[in-house]
Amino acid sequence: MKILGIETSCDETAVAIVENGRKVHAHILFTQIAKHKKWGGVIPELASRMHLEVMSDLLDEAFETSNLSMDDIDAIAVTQGPGLIGSLMIGVNTAKTLAWVHKKKLLPINHLHGHVCANFIQVNEDDKLLEPPFICMLASGGHTQIIHMKSYTEFEILAETIDDAAGEAFDKVARLMELPYPGGPHLDKLAQSVDDGIKNEYSFPIAMPKSLDFSFSGLKTAVLRMKEKIGDEKWNEDKAIIASAFQNCIAKTFYKKVLRVCEELDLRKIVLAGGVAANSAIRKSFKENFSEQNGFELVVPSLKYCTDNAVMIASAGYFMAKEETDLNAAKNDYSFEVYSRV
Ligand code: KG4
Ligand code: ZN
Repeated sequence: MKILGIETSCDETAVAIVENGRKVHAHILFTQIAKHKKWGGVIPELASRMHLEVMSDLLDEAFETSNLSMDDIDAIAVTQGPGLIGSLMIGVNTAKTLAWVHKKKLLPINHLHGHVCANFIQVNEDDKLLEPPFICMLASGGHTQIIHMKSYTEFEILAETIDDAAGEAFDKVARLMELPYPGGPHLDKLAQSVDDGIKNEYSFPIAMPKSLDFSFSGLKTAVLRMKEKIGDEKWNEDKAIIASAFQNCIAKTFYKKVLRVCEELDLRKIVLAGGVAANSAIRKSFKENFSEQNGFELVVPSLKYCTDNAVMIASAGYFMAKEETDLNAAKNDYSFEVYSRV
């Protein structure tokens, strides 16, 4: 079953064609970062306008590069939310139109479910295919959650942030360090310039609310207080080491919380997801701690499928569609609306 996926929840316009939730036939992505950069963040009106400008070219490109046509497509999956309303509307209206004209099944997808599904994609021939149940540490620009994936489509959110998302903390601290937007990857690069063997004199507190939930606003403030305490000169000199201490703190927080969930659920299969899952310190910490030797099974998404893309949406669409017995007989509901928050 081949699914056409469309993603426009924020500042990436993406189109993909994925077979059976695993095999990628097309992965087309247009990032708007260069356009938003000078404003230091995403300008919603600009984002929706740009999605509209490039959408039909991206669709053409997806079919051209895959040598497929609309006749080969079984269903269309589109991000319904959460995200920027204006941006979501471009993707959803494109998908609704295509589905109506070509008489295809339409599948509205939760963006976060999509991020989890990035892990089902088979990148190399010999990749072991991931199957539920598993625990997913999901961290994106707006969400930080620990999810219990019970099946391909059924999940329970066990923990989330009570204030800032981890991605938000990355972006805000990066801004404090005068790094370009989007800050996360730049901060990561800066931190990676620090020699592994160095004794880091900086450390930040790990917020451990009694519940499983996360809190990152205190960490962000701790970095700000550190800047004020050491002064501009030392701050500029030690920026990379501070960046390293900061991301190690987030990595450690994720590790501790996920370990607790593993113990509580007696489940040792772990998956990372979301843009922040591209972070080198988090990937390293999870690979070291949740190793096979320690009795865990860990799956980390390919770097190109961590941040927003349509491959993950098409994959999620497949697992949704599989639950419908007869795709052709299924009636489409074109009346669904986009949503900005979960
Ligand atoms: O999942 P995503 O692409 O978009 C949302 O759904 O929000 O996540 C974007 C977030 C941003 O906060 C970005 O700074 C962060 O992911 N990010 C990273 C890295 N790459 C992207 N944060 C830390 N290290 C990275 N390497
Ligand atoms: Zn995302």
